[in-house]
Amino acid sequence: MKKHLIVGAALLAALVTGAAQAEAPPKQVQACVACHGANGVSGTPAWPNLAGQHETYLAQQLTAMRAGERSNPLMDPFVQNLSDDDIRVLASWYAAQEPATAANGDTGLVERGRQLSGGCTACHGFAGKPVADAWPILAGQHAAYLRTQLQAYKHDVRIHPFMQAALANVAEKDFEALAAYYSQLQR
Ligand code: HEC
Ligand code: HEC
Repeated sequence: MKKHLIVGAALLAALVTGAAQAEAPPKQVQACVACHGANGVSGTPAWPNLAGQHETYLAQQLTAMRAGERSNPLMDPFVQNLSDDDIRVLASWYAAQEPATAANGDTGLVERGRQLSGGCTACHGFAGKPVADAWPILAGQHAAYLRTQLQAYKHDVRIHPFMQAALANVAEKDFEALAAYYSQLQR
C-alpha cells in the first residue's frame, strides 16, 4: 500500500513537472515579449498579434526579415541573430498560442470592408483564415497593423506578387474598411 503511494506520488510529480515544462515559453521568446506580448497578443495596435498565426507563415516572415527582404526598424535588430532553429522554435510556439478575440469595430466601416473583400477571399478565405499554412490569417489581427501592411504592399515597400496583384485595383482610401472588416472576424 505504502509502496503504491510512493510510486503514485513520484508519477504525479513527474507529470506535473512535465506539464510545467511544456507550458513555459522557450527562451527565444523573451526578446519578443516587450512588443508582441507575453503570449503573442500585442498591446499596441500597430504591432501584430502572433498568437495562433500560421506556423509556416511566421517562419517565412522571420526568414524574410533576417534576409532583409522585409524590413522594419523595430523588428530588424531582433531577427538578425536568429538561427534557423530559433525561427522554427519561435514560429511553432507562437502558432500554438491562443489567438486574440476580435474587436467589433465600426459597423458601417466593417460592412463596407466586407463588400470590398470579394477579391481577397480566394486566398484569405471567407472567415479571414486561408487554407494554405504559408498565407497569413487576417481574422482578429489589429486593424491598424493590417492597414499599414496594405499600404506597404501598395507602395512596394513589402513585396509579394500575389499582394501586389491583389491591390493593383484597390484604392488606398478603402484600406481602412478592409482592415476593419478582417480585424473583427472571429477565429
Ligand atoms: C521593439 C518591438 C518589437 C520586438 C522586440 C519584436 N518585434 Fe516583431 N514586430 C514588430 C513590429 C513593429 C512589426 C511589424 C513590422 C512591419 O510593419 O513590417 C513586427 C512584425 C513581426 C512579425 C510579422 C507578423 C506578420 O503578421 O507578418 C513576426 C513574425 C514577428 N514580428 C516576430 C517577432 C519575434 C519572434 C520577436 C522576438 C525574437 C520579435 N518579433 C520582436 C515589433 C517588434
Ligand atoms: C492570390 C492570393 C491573395 C489574394 C487575392 C490576396 N492576398 Fe493578401 N496575402 C497573400 C499572401 C501570400 C500574403 C503573404 C505575403 C508575404 O509574404 O508578404 C498576404 C498578406 C496579406 C496581408 C499581410 C498580413 C500580415 O500578417 O502581415 C494583408 C493585410 C493582406 N494580405 C490583405 C489582403 C486583402 C485585403 C486582400 C484583398 C484586397 C488580399 N490580401 C488579397 C495572398 C493573397
